[in-house]
Amino acid sequence: MQDLTLFPPAARVVYLRNDDAADLSNYRDLLPSERAQVSEAVDMRKGEFGDARWCAHQALKELGVRATEAILRGERGMPLWPAGYTGSLTHTEGLRAAVAAPTRLVRSMGLDAEPARPLPAGVLHQIALPAERSLVDAMRAAGHEGADRLLFCAKEATYKCWFPVTRRWLGFEEAEIEIRADGTFTSHLLARPTPVSCFEGRWAVRGGYVIASAFYS
Ligand SMILES: CC(C)(COP(=O)(O)OP(=O)(O)OC[C@H]1O[C@@H](n2cnc3c(N)ncnc32)[C@H](O)[C@@H]1OP(=O)(O)O)[C@@H](O)C(=O)NCCC(=O)NCCS
Repeated sequence: MQDLTLFPPAARVVYLRNDDAADLSNYRDLLPSERAQVSEAVDMRKGEFGDARWCAHQALKELGVRATEAILRGERGMPLWPAGYTGSLTHTEGLRAAVAAPTRLVRSMGLDAEPARPLPAGVLHQIALPAERSLVDAMRAAGHEGADRLLFCAKEATYKCWFPVTRRWLGFEEAEIEIRADGTFTSHLLARPTPVSCFEGRWAVRGGYVIASAFYS
């Protein structure tokens, strides 16, 4: 995760491992306005929210932003970054992460992490376009068992990059992901109108997780 080749050079990424779903220490340290966003939620949600926001504040700190700037939830759940910054958050079993960058260098970013396990039966057909199904088949034949999960992860990263720019939903059939074995991918955006034809992406499988980042520079 600390390998910055997953992100544009201007970005800062911070992650933490936390297997204790009941650990609310980072949640308790959030700004009151941030805690209020999930104050009615179950402890597991508060814990993941607190951990990922902690990562986001650390990333912003590395970029010189004071921790007094709240990162609230905006339209459809998108994170609201301090003026002049963008980024993305993710949380999954045992892992929380955030990436941030100045908007003068990166317009938008999407980060997603998933356990490196194949998708449940039937899900691939719901999320994949025909060319993507062929790609997953080819990757599986080459020994990449979790290729379907990687595709899903890249699609979620694509949505997180897309939404803050367009404020529009993007269905799974509205971006075609071209994954390459060298750890890069391209999200071809099929929705119209679109501000750009594609996002660049990077992926990696590390420590039992699939991680994908999409960005619009
Ligand atoms: C929103 C979504 C991408 C979140 O992914 P997830 O794997 O369920 O959850 P993650 O933990 O990785 O990410 C959650 C974080 O995503 C961010 N997020 C949520 N909605 C967002 C949006 N509209 N735009 C950008 N970021 C968003 C938030 O920071 C959230 O964390 P928080 O609520 O603690 O702040 C997913 O639930 C979803 O709705 N997917 C359908 C849309 C899609 O993927 N389309 C495919 C296009 S090819």
